[in-house]
Amino acid sequence: MSKYKTSGYKGPCDKAKTGERQGRSCVRYKCSMISSTVQVVLRQRPNWVEVKDDGEWDFNWCDVGWLKENFDQMYMEEHVRINHFRNYYELSRKDFMVKNLKRFQKNLEKESSHSEASECDFFPCTFAMPSEYHLFVEEFNRNSGSTWIMKPVAKSQGKGIFLFRKLKDITDWKKNSSRSEEEKDAAHVENYVAQRYVESPYLINGRKFDLRVYVLVTSYVPLRAWLYRDGFARFSGTRFSLTSIHDKYMHLTNVSVQKTAPDYDPEKGCKWQMQQLRRYLTAKHGREVVETLFKEIDNIFVRSLQSVQKIIINDKHCFELYGYDILLDQNLKPWLIEVNASPSYTASSQEDGEMKCRLLEDTLNVVDMEGRLTGKEKRVGGYDLMWNDGPVYREDVNLQTLCSSSFIANTHLGCVNDREQQLRQLQRPFLFQRKK
Ligand SMILES: Nc1ncnc2c1ncn2[C@@H]1O[C@H](COP(=O)(O)OP(=O)(O)O)[C@@H](O)[C@H]1O
Ligand SMILES: [Mg+2]
Repeated sequence: MSKYKTSGYKGPCDKAKTGERQGRSCVRYKCSMISSTVQVVLRQRPNWVEVKDDGEWDFNWCDVGWLKENFDQMYMEEHVRINHFRNYYELSRKDFMVKNLKRFQKNLEKESSHSEASECDFFPCTFAMPSEYHLFVEEFNRNSGSTWIMKPVAKSQGKGIFLFRKLKDITDWKKNSSRSEEEKDAAHVENYVAQRYVESPYLINGRKFDLRVYVLVTSYVPLRAWLYRDGFARFSGTRFSLTSIHDKYMHLTNVSVQKTAPDYDPEKGCKWQMQQLRRYLTAKHGREVVETLFKEIDNIFVRSLQSVQKIIINDKHCFELYGYDILLDQNLKPWLIEVNASPSYTASSQEDGEMKCRLLEDTLNVVDMEGRLTGKEKRVGGYDLMWNDGPVYREDVNLQTLCSSSFIANTHLGCVNDREQQLRQLQRPFLFQRKK
């Protein structure tokens, strides 16, 4: 138990400390996640002790169901941390994300320049259904013959998704959505988004893939965001073609979909680590092209976070580890597909499990309950500080580069992750002993 007179949960406490962050010699944590990876990482953390039920806690890794039920009744002291912001869904619900991006883009057009607004041109044309059905039909008719994708706004793992090319293909959905409110409730009618399907994805060995990238936000005001070096590409196991739009194994790259394919090979899996993808693309297209691509991907993270910066209820107790889904098209343009506030930590292979443990350990290292950081770090383990109330630049570029071109962003997605060495170099190094 903590030697500090602090309570993490329940009941006001007049001893809340303010000012300088204090390290904990013992961290009481609560975890309502079923994910064994999260539990293992928390359990292995030296001097972290699990509390059950209503016990007081300093750190909470909760699922969003727990958050919804408890957040508004909680009193949190200065040092306490929790892994979601109150209205996290503003970015992770598919319809809200697009609504926020569209508004942000419009404001940029009004307030700054068109060129800045065009930096938000990274999400496929999307309509909320049923509320924007008529707008959707107008757009659909303007370009008949193209492919669209229907997605439930708040589901995951490819559930409820289908592709279509004719309006009559969505009549079943439409029938449900035009019922009376009572009937809708009874039939559990869901809201969807209709989104233009990216018809020419970048293919490797004839297969479509998308990227899963991890971004950690430790504050929205000011915006402070970290990018993890590791991540992966998730491949479809079936060669891509637009002739069979109803084959989910061909079009949906979710691991949860792919692993149910009849010919799925668990030994081989369906993933490439981000480093492997970066090497492949560099060999094929050269360094400059790949750096431009990764810069555009960085822009997606920053702009999407800015689009909700004034919407998310900022709270110094909260952090959020987002899993971004990014799709590349055949011109190497990156498209934002969705942002997950509860990305999967399930290990699909040993390599994948090790990566997720590194990611979670480094998340705890950045959140720093132990008080080991100075607050000035630009790098902690596999995380690079990408945005700190403005862009963060690398320190290791030589003067010549600085003079001849623009500053270089402090991001290293898909680069070597020498995190252990880096953690040892910090002022108060992180040690690698784990609890037995
Ligand atoms: N607009 C799109 N164009 C092409 N493929 C898409 C598009 N939207 C989704 N997908 C494919 O479907 C998968 C699931 O979609 P996503 O929006 O991530 O929903 P879920 O929450 O179910 O994961 C993506 O990983 C991608 O492979
Ligand atoms: Mg997804």
